[in-house]
Amino acid sequence: MCGITACIGADDSVDSIMDGLQRLEYRGYDSAGIAVKDQSGISLTKRVGEVSELVAAVEQNPISGNYGIGHTRWATHGGVTDGNAHPHTDESGNVAVVHNGIISNYQSLRSELESKGHTFSSETDTEVVPHLIEENLRNGATPDEAFRAAIGSLSGSYAIAAIIGDEQAIYATRSGSPLVLGVGDGEFFLASDVPAFIQHTQRVVYLHDGDFVVTRPDGYTITDSAGRSVDRPVEYIEWDPETATKGGYEHYMYKEINEQPGALRRTTQGRLNTHTGGVELDEFPPGMFSDVEQVHLIAMGTSHHAGMYAASLLNARGIPAYAFMSGEYSVVNPPVTENTLVVAVSQSGETADTLDAVRRARASGARTLAMTNVVGSSITRECDDEMLLRAGPEIGVAATKTFSSQVTALALLSERIAEDIKGTRSPDARTLMEALARLPGDVQEILDTSMAREIAIEYQDSDAYFFIGRGPAHPVALEGALKFKEISYEHAEGFAASELKHGPLALVTPVTPVFAIFTGHEDEATLSNMKEVQARGAPVIAVTNERSSEVVEFADHVLTIPETHPEVAGILANVQLQLVAYHAAKLLERPIDKPRNLAKCVTVE
Ligand code: F6R
Repeated sequence: MCGITACIGADDSVDSIMDGLQRLEYRGYDSAGIAVKDQSGISLTKRVGEVSELVAAVEQNPISGNYGIGHTRWATHGGVTDGNAHPHTDESGNVAVVHNGIISNYQSLRSELESKGHTFSSETDTEVVPHLIEENLRNGATPDEAFRAAIGSLSGSYAIAAIIGDEQAIYATRSGSPLVLGVGDGEFFLASDVPAFIQHTQRVVYLHDGDFVVTRPDGYTITDSAGRSVDRPVEYIEWDPETATKGGYEHYMYKEINEQPGALRRTTQGRLNTHTGGVELDEFPPGMFSDVEQVHLIAMGTSHHAGMYAASLLNARGIPAYAFMSGEYSVVNPPVTENTLVVAVSQSGETADTLDAVRRARASGARTLAMTNVVGSSITRECDDEMLLRAGPEIGVAATKTFSSQVTALALLSERIAEDIKGTRSPDARTLMEALARLPGDVQEILDTSMAREIAIEYQDSDAYFFIGRGPAHPVALEGALKFKEISYEHAEGFAASELKHGPLALVTPVTPVFAIFTGHEDEATLSNMKEVQARGAPVIAVTNERSSEVVEFADHVLTIPETHPEVAGILANVQLQLVAYHAAKLLERPIDKPRNLAKCVTVE
């Protein structure tokens, strides 16, 4: 959460920084700010609200400078006020700093600085940084020394960028929070994520924890904390810069839902063989998983639902597998051995809870595998191995295409793990690979024919929305409810269909529609549950690939999915539920891409 962007070059940097902030707004949208440097000093503008408020303020009172820093905030320490918005400055206004993360020892640093006469003007943890830099400058340090010394006093997680005095430079570093460097022609960018500058350059340096970067108009240097030069490769990002824009859609979320056929094609490309039924994961040498005794899937939110889905696929193959919310992993403290494979599922690759769980797993001797969409993300560095989703950038706060890609990639991985352990493929591996190969086309069929909008209209005045399913359809029910509540702000809950009569049935009334998901797992039993809720007057919307059956006959409405392998059907059912959530939120005129209180990437525990 929180987005940092910075730019330095020959030309004015304000437009690039503002543009970067708008592209990073998915990371936080409580308040935003910009600081640029020109001959007369640092010009600072900050505003509560979305980046558009900042844009309006800068249009009214223009600022300029060929280098500067910007920030879009998701509040952690200190309320949402202009004063708490970043950048933060020292008292002389000579130093400006933006920060993403949490400085855990800021209280003691603040007291120490106050005892030396520094006056603070915000409630944030970040403000200690410009004061520390100022203190070091006062003591005779150069800007570079002052920045390093200030960073050396910090504990916690951070990505920080600063402008200091008259040095035409941006100083930056990271530890536990993302920061990437964009290498343009005569201009350089620093940002929390690549979309901030992809319009300007596709050449990227993925910085590591502990790297210190100094960018100047004519180049950049990367050093370690001891000042030794560090060599980091410049990588070329293949994305079409258009993928990081709305491309004519009203919302990123809707665009990303519609991008799923392409995303899924990339996720499976070169990874499955429909002739042999084999999974071909070049990342992992043959037999790599043969000594795995159990699999732990650790993740949060939507990624956790993908982890639950995978656990049921592994269990179906006789492999002990458990899905944990990564934030609970240390608390639950499940037994881990060196034959435990821990798969960390994270779209962003930066989720603090998941990173923490990875560290715990590694410390206990487990093997760790990162499944993420973001090349070079923290999780890929902390895990032993990685498998990339290749879904393309996801900007809408509500995860959509990455869930489909996660489940697909996990289905491939599950089959491969089982094959390594058992020395043989699943009996229906070929049918599964064929279904995965057909998946992009099947998703397209749903996108072209879905009645989700009509359902959203029909039930727009309901009291609550429930989602039920069994086996892999259970996490799909949870995901359907999460998406619905997250962007519509309506009460929505997902349940295992078997759970209903053990309590939740008490909530069911004629104004609580129930989405019943049928994916070929105990459908008979789910049908009974469907009839139970109907008996209490609740309307049922069945999500099913049946064209004529009791399900279709009894349901009040049907959202149809193409006929497919039962292990793939949940992905298709989920696409229908994504569309229902989207249309329901749109009818309610919610800010779909920026739901209240949320941010795309949760880098605090
Ligand atoms: C919901 C959503 C979140 C994330 C969760 C984990 O739409 O996006 O629940 O799934 O915050 O994020 P990642 O996958 O980046 O670790």
